[in-house]
Amino acid sequence: MYKKDFPIFTNTKFNGFDLVYLDSAATSQKPQIVISKLKEFYEKYNANIYRGIYKLSEESTELYEKTRSRVADFLNVSSSEIVFTKGTTDGINFIVYAYAKNKLKKGDLVLLTEMEHHSNIVPWQILSKNIGFNIEYVPISKDGKLKDLDKFLEFKPKILSITHVSNVLGSVNDISYISNMAHKIGCTVIVDGAQAVSHMKVDLKLLDCDFYVFSAHKMFGPTGVGILYGKNEILSELEPIFGGGEMISSVTKDDVVFKDSPFKFEAGTQNFADVSVFSNSIDYIENIGINNISSYIKDLHSYAVKKLKGIKGLRIYGEGNLSGIVSFDINGIHPHDIATLLNENNIAVRAGHHCAQILMSSLGVSSLTRCSLQIYNDKSDIDKLVSSLDKIVSYFK
Ligand code: ALA
Repeated sequence: MYKKDFPIFTNTKFNGFDLVYLDSAATSQKPQIVISKLKEFYEKYNANIYRGIYKLSEESTELYEKTRSRVADFLNVSSSEIVFTKGTTDGINFIVYAYAKNKLKKGDLVLLTEMEHHSNIVPWQILSKNIGFNIEYVPISKDGKLKDLDKFLEFKPKILSITHVSNVLGSVNDISYISNMAHKIGCTVIVDGAQAVSHMKVDLKLLDCDFYVFSAHKMFGPTGVGILYGKNEILSELEPIFGGGEMISSVTKDDVVFKDSPFKFEAGTQNFADVSVFSNSIDYIENIGINNISSYIKDLHSYAVKKLKGIKGLRIYGEGNLSGIVSFDINGIHPHDIATLLNENNIAVRAGHHCAQILMSSLGVSSLTRCSLQIYNDKSDIDKLVSSLDKIVSYFK
């Protein structure tokens, strides 16, 4: 029903097949309204933000700041708590260097989980080599859920950095419960929301984490835009890690006075065109309704799981119904072969370690095939996937 909003499905064919796009956890497709608004921005509003005392720059600034308010409303927080970044990875690295670097000392503990994406592991490992803090990983159970988080919190970590939704298993972590437990021992909670925001209602007042990061490109928005949420009381105390134009109140030869948060964290010319257009992606989501998206994806996911389970030798990892993620392997067939053969029918899935090698090793596999769903998918996409997989299985028999 929503496929018609996304021009890529009418504009691209391969081997005579229509596109079956099942890789939305990597990036979502863009609706016509977002594509048109980006073109319109460059045609009508392009001027650098904040700097110009002229109409065009004022309009451009207004559009940029409108997105900040739209995002803040969408997440039920205040605009001063929203910082624009380049993406989720950029947001996590910002937190690591602007916040954690000053908070952690040798011997402290940072708690991660085995289901983290590399973007929420590697920055911690790099900093830990400099500072000498320890990193522990909360393990996962056979059905892809966190196990023994309470026990790990007894070791009094200073920071818990955790994904809201696993990009492989689709498991949804109960952030509100986790924040509550972690805060009781004075532990800061950082959440990677990359796979959550376009699929389920995220109310940061309820989740009560200290930081939350995600990317626009996974929610029908442009690439190169990320959102970093931080609680006001934390952001106002942080020093910027990048200095440059527009983030200052005054500069002398000896000193600099920064603007207030969030402006002190946005040095130099920002990606203002893409940020401005991101508000149209939020409009698109809200016009459908985030709860309608959730229930649509949930139903489609159940359909996909039921059909996939009928394929001989196929095993599903995790139970990610809300997130629309189904990762699987098939006995005796390498995921790269599966993805390559599906591509012959213009079916796009992701295969490999999914930037989650620690998780792969904990699951006892080296790679998986992942099908990830969005609002533009329908049952016919799943039917095409399943019938192609059936053929692949018979081919390898
Ligand atoms: N993090 C993205 C994925 O899981 C790129 O595919």
